[in-house]
Amino acid sequence: MAPIDTSEKPIVWVLGGPGSGKGTQCEKIIAKYGFTHLSTGDLLRAEVKSGSERAKCLTTIMERGELVPNETVLELLKEAIEARAADSKGFLIDGYPREKSQGIAFENSIAPVTVILYFEASCETLTKRLLGRAASSGRADDNEETIKLRLKTFLDNNDLVLAQYPDKLTRINAEATVDEIFGEVQKILDPVVAAAAAN
Ligand code: AP5
Repeated sequence: MAPIDTSEKPIVWVLGGPGSGKGTQCEKIIAKYGFTHLSTGDLLRAEVKSGSERAKCLTTIMERGELVPNETVLELLKEAIEARAADSKGFLIDGYPREKSQGIAFENSIAPVTVILYFEASCETLTKRLLGRAASSGRADDNEETIKLRLKTFLDNNDLVLAQYPDKLTRINAEATVDEIFGEVQKILDPVVAAAAAN
């Protein structure tokens, strides 16, 4: 794919445990900044729905709370970025990377990340939120057993992912209210967007 000029189209990775509010904050970011939102979880669920050949084993992996093979996720992300690259103002990559090698593969094959938002909350908070959402989400992985496995997968990988990007990473307290958290997000993204507009 043609390289993305990140001085004009910033790439923002949105990280955090399951239920940390990645999707919730992404909606607010899109509303203010007009970025293109690509959630790897949403891309994978859409792929499962499509019934494609590569979707066959995805459901089982996701119901076990494990990570889908990186080639599959990266391929979906690349296709989605390529399709929107011409008219995008920048990309919000939600839920990726989830392991060290994913970050490396993304930067090697797509573009360097501009800034990373990491939403930090306790396992108790994450579990409570996901169980609260379970009644209405219709998601096969929003049940007590899978939530435990999702948290384990997250905890097994997260420190290594974060340690790779000390200069680009901002930790945000995700125990706060949605609006308070968005206040912190804006402090980080306002200057990024202003710099991109100046280019
Ligand atoms: P994915 O769909 O990304 O799920 P997740 O990471 O588990 O996160 P969620 O979407 O459940 O939560 P969220 O952080 O977006 O929180 P939300 O805003 O909804 O991934 C699903 C699966 O796909 C993975 O398990 C894996 O198998 C696979 N996958 C995905 N990416 C992959 C990758 N890169 N590599 C390999 N496999 C991959 O909020 C949750 C709830 O809390 C909502 O009810 C919300 O209203 C509420 N809430 C949000 N913020 C607040 C707040 N501040 N205060 C109170 N309540 C709040």
